[in-house]
Amino acid sequence: MTPNNAAMRVRPAKHVAGSIRLPGDKSISHRYAMLAGLADGRSRFRNFSSGADCASTVACMAALGCVVEREEDGALAIAGRGPSLQAAKTALDCGNSGSTMRMLAGIVAAQSFETRMAGDASLSRRPMARIIEPLTRMGARIEATGGDRPPLRIRGGELKAVDYKMPVASAQVKSCVLFAGLLAGGHTWVEETHRTRDHGELALRAFGAEVERDGKRTGIRGGQPLHVIEAYIPGDISSAAFFLCAAACLPGSQLILDEVLLNPTRAAILDVLAGMGAQLRMLNVEEHHGELVGTVQLNGASLRGATIAGAQTAALIDELPVLAAIAPYTREGIEIRDAQELRVKESDRIAVLARNLRAMGATVEERPDGLRIPGRQQLHGAEIHPEGDHRIAMACAVAALGASGESLIREAECVAISFPGFFDLLAKVAAR
Ligand code: S3P
Repeated sequence: MTPNNAAMRVRPAKHVAGSIRLPGDKSISHRYAMLAGLADGRSRFRNFSSGADCASTVACMAALGCVVEREEDGALAIAGRGPSLQAAKTALDCGNSGSTMRMLAGIVAAQSFETRMAGDASLSRRPMARIIEPLTRMGARIEATGGDRPPLRIRGGELKAVDYKMPVASAQVKSCVLFAGLLAGGHTWVEETHRTRDHGELALRAFGAEVERDGKRTGIRGGQPLHVIEAYIPGDISSAAFFLCAAACLPGSQLILDEVLLNPTRAAILDVLAGMGAQLRMLNVEEHHGELVGTVQLNGASLRGATIAGAQTAALIDELPVLAAIAPYTREGIEIRDAQELRVKESDRIAVLARNLRAMGATVEERPDGLRIPGRQQLHGAEIHPEGDHRIAMACAVAALGASGESLIREAECVAISFPGFFDLLAKVAAR
């Protein structure tokens, strides 16, 4: 794999082998950085996500008056201001990060000043009505392009509690409402259709807030103070998924992932791969700040197929691109249903995956809410156009390992959104 004008060449691999450690989980890093900003004092994070998305969140917190420092041992320190932040001088730049814009909106909506939030071309196309609606009900005044798209102009102020049933299964929306609820008067509740990742709830508890869970409802009482924390952020399981899937579908692979996040609301990828026939073991499982962390050992095999639908689709939302990428190498193929949300991610992931896998010679059935990709297909190397979407670039790099001939991943630098070291690590574990 060599750089070529922001393109990476990926050659086929016999299998993958090795022991790796991943940058800190993106979902947790965002939330810890935001809540550290609301705590009174200095929090410290080791293995904070190295991705550009979390750097956007940290830069936004600095713009809101928090002091951010990188310590000698690489830890990130954020000195919070308590519940009252400082007005930013210019629009907050959320870059490519939907998480930054959606979750931070819940915090700035409760401030006594106006905040503008903007993002890059991809983020500017993403729907924001899902956060505008509950925050407006809580008393914020928000303007968006066409009522739904960034940039946002949020006129904050005192918020009141809400009892909100989310129409889409989205952990970003749930965290947005809970963060706003922490700063609002009264008791806020948010209800979800399908269980989504619970890092917002666990992070709030880690920083000292009480959070209730009642079936599908999560509640928080406003006005609770947050205290500082020190944390090692476990390896990102969604980044791990690229390596897990590569190892799972290439027989002879032996992969060890150390200190990886095993939160049950995020680890569905392990269940799916085990169900398809991969041999998996979890060791040294511990809990830190409510999050499960451990070592995963995976041996590759000839994989069966899978159908992913309903609650499982919601639980695997970030892993669906790489599952689609290995589908041709399974025996029965993979069907993904109920995944309309994939069309409003960093790209239209259903369309972009279908296009790139077809360029590699795959038969792919594209549906409004998903994909059906038959198994037992031989792919060939191709030129991949991820359309600036980090997870598409990495998923197609995994597909390229099982193809015949070399692939060229264009715009390969986009992997830095979540995982700057991806191609180096892939080169390290791919045996040829
Ligand atoms: C995330 C939730 C998911 C996911 C995103 C991170 C989070 O988005 O796709 O990468 O950290 O809460 P949605 O909430 O839009 O499903």
